[in-house]
Amino acid sequence: MTSPSDRPAPATATPPDSGLPFHEYVRRQRAAVDAALERLLPSPPACPPLIAEAVRYSVFAGGKRLRPVLALAAADAVTGGSLADGEAVMPAACAIEMIHTYSLIHDDLPAMDDDTQRRGRPTSHVVYGEGMAVLAGDALLTEAFRVLARHPRTSAPDVAARKLRVLARVAEAAGAAGMVGGQVVDLEASGQLTSGRPRPAGAAAMNAAALDAMHARKTGALIRAAAVAGAVMAGAPDAAVAAVDAYAGHLGLAFQIVDDILDVEGDPATLGKTTGKDAAAGKPTYPGLHGLGASRRLAAEAIGRARASLAAAGLGGRLDEIADWVLHRSH
Ligand code: IPE
Ligand code: IPE
Ligand code: MG
Ligand code: MG
Ligand code: MG
Repeated sequence: MTSPSDRPAPATATPPDSGLPFHEYVRRQRAAVDAALERLLPSPPACPPLIAEAVRYSVFAGGKRLRPVLALAAADAVTGGSLADGEAVMPAACAIEMIHTYSLIHDDLPAMDDDTQRRGRPTSHVVYGEGMAVLAGDALLTEAFRVLARHPRTSAPDVAARKLRVLARVAEAAGAAGMVGGQVVDLEASGQLTSGRPRPAGAAAMNAAALDAMHARKTGALIRAAAVAGAVMAGAPDAAVAAVDAYAGHLGLAFQIVDDILDVEGDPATLGKTTGKDAAAGKPTYPGLHGLGASRRLAAEAIGRARASLAAAGLGGRLDEIADWVLHRSH
């Protein structure tokens, strides 16, 4: 059976225009991503209306779309702005945003960070109840792999091989060695895994290397996978994929450092989520371990390393601008 969400032709990314101001470039890419997401998400009658509604509630709540924009920008960078077919990259970009959104829905559950605001709206479990929030996350995770397997629809062996490579990489980034593993370390360090286990030493005992490793898993892995997916689907040679991967690793660390800083000094209305929760929950964070001033410096240094990785490979363009965005963002 072909479900409506399996219809072909997800929206093609806007052709990159190097003359566009960055904010306009991002606005256009977000619009293209949103249109593709709407097509790729499950819809009735293939699925019950309630699950279609619940996944859309969280997906279209106003996220920044950093990961899909990054995937599209990486594809553009490795092809020197001449990507012939944006449609080759868009499904993977959307699948990663679906996985990211699932991770946020579950991260906000009472059993995890117990947050009531996300993307400027009440969290999924507040609106739909915990059972539906668990299922909305489950659906997004699983549907993401359907999208990766099915799209782009082609029998061309080289594209099929790229899809398989991206699918494996995204699974590794999202799974126990990646995001889920990082979330486990996060919960364990903040003493939230109590059942049958002794309370661990807690955030104060986490050294700088362990904190970096946690951030690399919980946030860095998926950001790297997004950039790599864009480069691979665009047909980049291995050296360019490796450069984009290195860039995104540093970018991902900076991104989570800034997330930690914004939890201390950000504006909840601008962020669309509550602040001050990390310290209260005993979360291991950059400001908690290094202090705010050093955290700002370390984020800037990570962005410097990200830029250097690009420059060494002769890449830049929108990826350079994304690095600036990540460092200076207020939400
Ligand atoms: C928030 O991610 C969770 C982290 C990994 C730090 P984003 O800040 O990208 O959230 P959205 O997608 O814009 O809502
Ligand atoms: C969560 O990190 C990272 C995820 C894998 C979802 P946080 O718990 O710091 O993210 P926010 O601050 O709630 O967005
Ligand atoms: Mg969390
Ligand atoms: Mg959280
Ligand atoms: Mg946070």
